Amino acid sequence: RQQDVVNVTFVRANGEKIKSSGKVGDSLLDVVVNNNVDLDGFGACEGTLTCSTCHLIFKEADYEKLPEKPGDEELDMLDLAYELTDTSRLGCQITLTKDMDGLEVQVPATINDARAA
Ligand code: FES
Repeated sequence: RQQDVVNVTFVRANGEKIKSSGKVGDSLLDVVVNNNVDLDGFGACEGTLTCSTCHLIFKEADYEKLPEKPGDEELDMLDLAYELTDTSRLGCQITLTKDMDGLEVQVPATINDARAA
């Protein structure tokens, strides 16, 4: 249904914008996978919280509005991500709500697969 569609834009470090969309209830990882968004190495652990390759940087206002705060496991994994910011989250842990329609998230320039460490 149209009303379930949530539009998401991924912004690469070079400024390039990749428009995409998912459905309410999808994770941001699902959006990347289902749309074949071309982000090299993104989502390597398929959402099992063991890689940090799904690190995304939110605008502060969007970050504050996220319905769920990061859990301990997510925070531990974020510690291993490069270019960590105060508004960083793991995309596989963010579930889309209708409120998030039009969301723009920054993709860090470097993706760190913590499993390789
Ligand atoms: Fe690996 Fe999110 S996909 S931690």
